[in-house]
Amino acid sequence: MDSQFDQVHERRSTDSQKWQKYEGRDILPMWVADMDFKSPQPVLDALHRRVDHGIFGYARPEPSATEAILEMLERNYGWKAEAEWLVWLPGLVVGLNITSRAFAEPGDSILTTTPIYPPFLLGPKFQGRSVVKAKMALDGDRWVVDWDAMEAAVNDRTRMFLFCNPHNPCARVFERSELEAVVSFCERHDLILCSDEIHCELLLDGRTHTPIATLSESALQNSFTLIAPSKTYNLAGLGCSLAIIPNRSLRNRFVASARGIMAEVNNLGYVACEAAYRHGGPWLEELLDYLGGNRDLVRAFAKASLPGVTIYEHEATYLSWMDVTQFNLDDPVAYFESHGIGLTDGAFFDSPGHVRLNFGCPRSTLQEGLNRMKAAIDALA
Ligand SMILES: Cc1ncc(COP(=O)(O)O)c(C=O)c1O
Repeated sequence: MDSQFDQVHERRSTDSQKWQKYEGRDILPMWVADMDFKSPQPVLDALHRRVDHGIFGYARPEPSATEAILEMLERNYGWKAEAEWLVWLPGLVVGLNITSRAFAEPGDSILTTTPIYPPFLLGPKFQGRSVVKAKMALDGDRWVVDWDAMEAAVNDRTRMFLFCNPHNPCARVFERSELEAVVSFCERHDLILCSDEIHCELLLDGRTHTPIATLSESALQNSFTLIAPSKTYNLAGLGCSLAIIPNRSLRNRFVASARGIMAEVNNLGYVACEAAYRHGGPWLEELLDYLGGNRDLVRAFAKASLPGVTIYEHEATYLSWMDVTQFNLDDPVAYFESHGIGLTDGAFFDSPGHVRLNFGCPRSTLQEGLNRMKAAIDALA
């Protein structure tokens, strides 16, 4: 066995959403965005120590947890953030809903690009705000923001732009010039910029992430950033995420909208978050290498053995976006399930005819999933 990530762990009967969905059926779950890997050992050790203490009262983060976040932001991005900018959240989906309440009134609209992670569309909708959408465009096989579509979509009731970088599902890491264009668009249209950067540590091929708030003082004051250790260190079930809101007035609005309805982060979430940001580096380096190999396998396999499936440049995340419109399937996900592989439906991302494959799993599992996709496609011939 070459890598710790090759090890296959049994996840059935471990309260896993991903694996419960297909319980009792021979369908490999490659849908929701968590990985079939154990978290870094230092995180597991910290959790063991906390559990051994045995008391789980109402929680508050230790100052050392806040310091771990601030140190990580400075170490990784040269970003000198301040402790008071941090708002701890029990999840970023909660954050997207609170954001919609805080920064748009009923009848106002919120702009986003599509395809997009579904809560970008559902958060505003659940909170009675409308969404205006700008379809992304393809530059070769790279997804880019379509500025004409953005100009056409924005209107005088639009209050905010929900941006995702690195992008789920398009797997792009936007370049500095693209980020600058986002900032100036928001300035020009007087939009608050919400930047979901939850995938910012999952950059492949040695790429580096630029938090959009660090571009300029005006970007810093007019935006806020959503991050979490959950995608990177596989901690989604512990519910610990953060909004970084430098501007006091925006922060007050956000906090006021969350009051009384947002649960606290739990004891274990804080502990895992601190340990991950302090000690997860070596594990992460190995993970990125492994995910890069999985991405290469998906690419090579699709090219050789999945005729009719279009995939794109893949710069970050462990989520591969695939166009299967060519097959004219009524329900692509149900079709692939009938061949033993569970994917996410592009329709949820405002992009019917696409599916998303999660390759955050041991390579042998991925290979089996790809073989099943091939069998599904061969059966259409
Ligand atoms: C872009 C993006 N934001 C937020 C989330 C979910 O965050 P959380 O688990 O903290 O609610 C995901 C999960 O896949 C995501 O891809």
